[in-house]
Amino acid sequence: MKTKKHIKPLRPKGLPEDMRRELREARVGRGWSQRELGSRLGLPQMHISGIESGKIVPRYDTLLELVRILDRDLLMVPRALVPAVRSLIRDHFRPDQQSESEERALYPQRPTLSLSFKSSTGGLVTALRPVSFRVPPFFSNLLPEGHLRTYLAKLSGVKPEHGFFLLAVLGADLPGAVVVRPLEGDAHDGGAHDASAGGDHDDRPAMRFSLAGVQLKFSAVMEASGGLSVPADGMGGSWIVKLPSARFPAVPENEFVMLELARRVGIAVPPLRIVDVANIKGLPTEVRTTGGTALAVERFDRLPGGDSVHMEDFAQVFGLFPDDKYGRRSYANIASVLWAETGQEATYEFVRRVVFSVLIGNADMHLKNWSLLYPDRRTPVLSPAYDFVATLPYLPGDTLALTFGGGRSLAGITTDQMRHFADAARIPASPLWQIAVETAERTVGAWKALEQTDLLPKDMRTSIEKQILAVASTTK
Ligand SMILES: Nc1ncnc2c1ncn2[C@@H]1O[C@H](COP(=O)(O)OP(=O)(O)O)[C@@H](O)[C@H]1O
Ligand SMILES: [Mg+2]
Repeated sequence: MKTKKHIKPLRPKGLPEDMRRELREARVGRGWSQRELGSRLGLPQMHISGIESGKIVPRYDTLLELVRILDRDLLMVPRALVPAVRSLIRDHFRPDQQSESEERALYPQRPTLSLSFKSSTGGLVTALRPVSFRVPPFFSNLLPEGHLRTYLAKLSGVKPEHGFFLLAVLGADLPGAVVVRPLEGDAHDGGAHDASAGGDHDDRPAMRFSLAGVQLKFSAVMEASGGLSVPADGMGGSWIVKLPSARFPAVPENEFVMLELARRVGIAVPPLRIVDVANIKGLPTEVRTTGGTALAVERFDRLPGGDSVHMEDFAQVFGLFPDDKYGRRSYANIASVLWAETGQEATYEFVRRVVFSVLIGNADMHLKNWSLLYPDRRTPVLSPAYDFVATLPYLPGDTLALTFGGGRSLAGITTDQMRHFADAARIPASPLWQIAVETAERTVGAWKALEQTDLLPKDMRTSIEKQILAVASTTK
């Protein structure tokens, strides 16, 4: 174990960008040049210019003077009040604009559906943006994407693009605790029926479960014997079986090994199994394919008795459609929500997982691969990790799914990047570098000791090891 003196401290190099912007705007709003402002404070123009550009970190007393001469103040605000204060400041500068339509928390015990409906002051957002053609973002995100969606739509005789009807068909077994039921009539009404699809013509009932994501997967029941079996209608299982990919080799093995590695690094991971596809009972014949290996993961949104735990992914948190999972928001945006809603520990765990993703070369940690769980139906916690795949062996040269401290590089991690990330998330930078260093050390150690790596094809194992060691060396 190394001592702490080897760890580089993360001191800010300049004021955060938004603060510098605000200072500049306040100065310009008064019609002052940098020289004029400087002269009021007894500072040279160069010093003002340095503070505004971020080249100079002012001393606290200089900053206070600067802020005050611009008719502002520095204030310590309890974290829980930050959204309320921000919204007051917004209203202060735009008094003519109506504040957003919202309902105060009338029912303090009301379960949370999604943080996207929580306003900046903690009330309920009721002025929702209308959507056309698609179901609103929260519900769109409950449906599978890609191949899995086409497959389930075909079995139910619904067109895959008709999210609304698909939701009606799959609504009894959705991710999390939401149940969607048609009010009246049949879900197939309304022109959504796909005559070419075939539908449930054979004796088997159509599959009526939904799991988000792209990879073909089924809900399965773990039998007392330890065997997995997919229920005839697909509903009610508390395990997820992820089948091999037709495009890339050894994906279930890769994901299994990466999740086991994460567990050894101290990241929360649900129980896992690697299973022979041939040994899974009840799999529809058409997906049985040629056998191979599947990954079974215990669901964290189902309890042993079968009850559901509500959850939402970060596309839902940000009110975005599934198509926007690779853009629009950054890892700092996720960290900012975690810090405000779940606290420091979860935020540090998130940073650990992002660092781990860079270490293993996982370019696919988009907004839907991060979720919040609501065990008490109201307060979010960060869910265990899922969908950790070392993707670089399949797509060399690929970059991170979301921006991390201003960049998307999978080549390494820098102190500047970490500081930038902390500033953007408005969280303290100082603890983060140590998390990166420790995560890298633990990953290297755990990788060397991990016996399951022999499940991987040899070239894949070599390539992952190279990536881990290369990234780890950048944190030294
Ligand atoms: N262990 C789990 N428990 C509950 N839900 C899960 C679990 N693992 C994944 N999910 C949910 O299922 C979705 C798809 O799973 P994921 O592993 O991401 O598959 P894919 O490779 O298709 O993206 C996730 O976005 C998440 O909502
Ligand atoms: Mg996924």
